[in-house]
Order: sequence, then C-alpha cells, then structure tokens
Amino acid sequence: MDAPDPPRPDARILIALEACPSTQDVVREQALQGAPAGMACTAEHQTAGRGRRGRTWTETPGTALMFSYLARPARPPSELGPLPLVVGIALAEALPLGPRLRWPNDLVLRDHKLGGVLAELATPPDGAPFAVIGVGINANLTAAQLPPTDRLPATSLLVEGGAPVDRAALRGRLLEALDEALAVFDRDGFAAFAGRWAALDDLAGRPLELRLPDRAVTGRCDGVDAEGRIVVGGEAYAAGEVERVLG
Ligand code: BTN
Repeated sequence: MDAPDPPRPDARILIALEACPSTQDVVREQALQGAPAGMACTAEHQTAGRGRRGRTWTETPGTALMFSYLARPARPPSELGPLPLVVGIALAEALPLGPRLRWPNDLVLRDHKLGGVLAELATPPDGAPFAVIGVGINANLTAAQLPPTDRLPATSLLVEGGAPVDRAALRGRLLEALDEALAVFDRDGFAAFAGRWAALDDLAGRPLELRLPDRAVTGRCDGVDAEGRIVVGGEAYAAGEVERVLG
C-alpha cells in the first residue's frame, strides 16, 4: 500500500515573519486554534530562539534557515518517541552536501553542527496531541557569524559549500520532505526508517560519552534500536545527551 497523500505544498499555510521571539510559539498558538498539519512559520530573525535542553538558538538576521512546522501525528503517544529522528532523517536526506545525523537529531558535517531540530509535543486538554517541530539550519552564515557552541563547533552550508544557498527554495524542499516522511511515519511507524537512519548515522561504531540525568555512560555506540533509542555499551537509552565522541 502506498503512503497516504501528504498535504499539497501549494495549499500550505506559511506565515513568513521578519522577526519574532520564536517561531515555535507562533505555530503552537496556531495549532491550538485548529491549524492543519503542515502549516509552518518562518522568520528572518528570532529574538528568543530556543534549542534542545534549554539552550538558546542564535543567528545573524537574514542568514539562517529557520522554521517551525505543525505535525499532527496519527500514531499513539506511546509510539512518538522516534518522531524527532524521523524529522532528522527527512532533513538530512533533503539538504545539500550530505549531512549526517547525531542522535537524536543534530545535523553534522565534518564533526561540526550544521543545524538542529527541536520537537515540542503538546497535549491540549480537549484535543489530540500535536508536535511543533522547529528546524534551524546554519545556511548562509559566514565563518565569522557562526554562533559559539558548548559541544560541537558550528558550521554552515556557506562555509562548507563555498556559495550561498537559496533559503526559500531549500525551505520548500525541506517542508515537502517533512510532509512525506510524516505521512510514512503515520502509516508504518519507525520501522520504515530504521535503514534510512543507519545510512545517515554519524555515531554508530564510535566510542562516546552519553550524559544521563544522574550519571554519564561511556561505550561504543551501536546505532539506535527499534524504538529510536540510542544503544551505548549494549544498553538502550531513550533520553540523554551525547557529550563527546571519543574516537
Ligand atoms: C537544537 O539544535 O538544539 C535545536 C535548534 C532549533 C532551532 C529552531 S529555529 C526555528 C525554531 N524556533 C526556535 O525557537 N527554535 C527552532
């Protein structure tokens, strides 16, 4: 059976802003008012952009590719753990220069961070759960504009490829890739993505340190399991932060 039809790109609701605190909040508000899956908000600048684990996301206005996308997953809440990985796969496959993925969804090139994903799940009291998926890609940042980081050093498509990208065209391709991937996820779950993840996995086979809430574990990464959990030293972990890659 084919995957269900994704939303038609020409029917997409896209809110394009010059500046806002965070596109995440715009899409969340729209979702609560009943916006359809696939609606998105993009901005040239965010004054309070946020990343995973309470980090801030900063950029120079007009250089990054940033948007938030509304997903209304059909799968039960207990199966939504791998959703951020599915998003990372769709983006990595659609981006130029062949970035790879570091669990759960950092996009990397040459051990440098090209972009990231922030998936925020919400369960309104009187409605079905939805996910606001925030995407930030260092597109046309020069080397001097790359933000300071606490783990992976940053890079950009401009720095790596030597030429600026058409951010609007690339955004269109990424939104369509998300439409398609989420339609497949709705139908088949993470099983349909395991091989695609393995082909993009930047950590499999490498020793690393994973920081958990109460301790750190060190061991060889053996990819992810069927639920999208990272496997380190033979144990699967649903949450944590890859602190360092040791080899
Ligand atoms: C990460 O790498 O920690 C995730 C970064 C996500 C940044 C994007 S930019 C668009 C959207 N709005 C935000 O405030 N954050 C996400």
